[in-house]
Amino acid sequence: MAGEKFYITTAIDYVNQKPHLGTAYEKIGADCMARYKRLRGFDTYFLMGTDEHSTNVEKEAVKRGLEPKKYCDEMSERFQSTWKKLEISYDDFIRTTEGRHLAAVLDLFKKIDDNGYIYKGKYEGIYCESCEEFLNEKDLVDGLCPVHRIEPKVIKEENYFFSLSLFEKPLLEHIEKHPDFVQPKIRAHEVINVIRGGLDDVSISRVGKKWGITLPSDEGHVVYVWFDALINYISALGFGGDDTRLFERYWPADVHVVGKDITRFHCIIWPAMLMAADVQLPRQVYAHGFVSLEGEKMSKTRGNVIDPEKMAEAFGADGLRYLLMREVPFDKDGDISVESLVTRYNSDLANELGNLFSRTLAMISKYFGGELSGVMVPNESQLKRELEEAITQYYGDMDRMAFSRAITGYWSIIQRANRYIEEKRPWDLARDESKRDELASVMAELVMVLRSSGVILFPFMPVKMADMLTQLGVGKPDMELLPFDSMEVSGIAPARPLFPRIDSIPDNLA
Ligand code: MSP
Repeated sequence: MAGEKFYITTAIDYVNQKPHLGTAYEKIGADCMARYKRLRGFDTYFLMGTDEHSTNVEKEAVKRGLEPKKYCDEMSERFQSTWKKLEISYDDFIRTTEGRHLAAVLDLFKKIDDNGYIYKGKYEGIYCESCEEFLNEKDLVDGLCPVHRIEPKVIKEENYFFSLSLFEKPLLEHIEKHPDFVQPKIRAHEVINVIRGGLDDVSISRVGKKWGITLPSDEGHVVYVWFDALINYISALGFGGDDTRLFERYWPADVHVVGKDITRFHCIIWPAMLMAADVQLPRQVYAHGFVSLEGEKMSKTRGNVIDPEKMAEAFGADGLRYLLMREVPFDKDGDISVESLVTRYNSDLANELGNLFSRTLAMISKYFGGELSGVMVPNESQLKRELEEAITQYYGDMDRMAFSRAITGYWSIIQRANRYIEEKRPWDLARDESKRDELASVMAELVMVLRSSGVILFPFMPVKMADMLTQLGVGKPDMELLPFDSMEVSGIAPARPLFPRIDSIPDNLA
């Protein structure tokens, strides 16, 4: 496993609106996975980016009196700064207005064209500019786009088409042969149904537009925004450029993490484009669910609460990451409220984990002056056995991106360790000199749990867990050292608190 590569990507966000809790949810999930894989020794590459050639982006720029590129520069900066505040550890950030992206789009377009899968034809149909999608009459509700409730544009123009219809069979065969290609299963069923329902060729260029990638062979056309955007996953690796080393090392992607609303693009159009260009397909598309706030869609809800930066100010970046991953299972939709997050924060982080940590450090300082030397966790330790089982379970859950299960499964160890303190009553042991060894081994078991927790929970809470590990005398998180059952403990001092209690709804979210 060590040294094996792992390439993970997220959807690239449209820059016509600010990052919100929904888009942040996706990036946090992908980041937890990337950090987990790094800890497991994978040569991990994590890509994010911004999707800039959208009509909505152009419109928004015009509204503000800015050149589209200038507006994108500002917004892309803003996205990157938010992601940094949320401790998202991407290795590269691709913008679809970059030269390297342009090179890849033109190259892939040419390969598909050379292979005979692009033709010029007349497009007559309807297009929702908010979806950036060609629609079918049968999808409309009262003549309006079902998502945006706006009237779609009637388009009659000469376009380039991609022969998607020729890929029905190869796509179905691929999905059948690779049952993990679309995850979770429910999304695979949906995708299979769409393909079985029949695929039409898709228009991949627009005329009369300035904002977008112009086709050198036919300058009246710009590339359709989705055709352009999907290619980011390879343009960032140098595909179509002079230096293709990253592409050779990391492609095919191990997982594209995207929302459930864009599976048609990622599980049908994108793999067909790659097949048409003789490029390998990604190993998996993981379509996560949607998070909503107090039953409302993100776009309609109170500004501050959906602003991930404001949320991170209230709960800490790590607190927010933990809460989102704990409360909304990655494969499902989930609704959250500020109140429920405060309750969860206090019960899990301030009380259970925070107290376990501060009580243990306080006892080691008080009873042993902060030093425990050559202490082993006893072989027959029940806690160690349970911890080992929990770690195996955790690996399984993380490998499937079942983050909420990974957390709740592991949390039983933290609760167990707190109960263990109550059962063992170290304060009584400390009064009896003959029980000194027993007291030391109880402390060792607690240190084992805490050090393990620091590593296990590191992907979710990188800053707090690094702090916790430092206070426990561990230099850096290392999964090879799990479950930390033999130890030297020195220099332990009373804890600097990790998760201060939140007593009321934070002001900036009220
Ligand atoms: N630009 C396209 C993606 C192109 S990928 C080649 C796009 N952008 S988006 O800004 O609308 O959405 C970005 C990602 O955020 C998508 O994966 C989308 O599903 C996800 N989410 C948007 N709202 C969300 C929630 N409320 N909850 C969870 N994810 C959400 O689509």
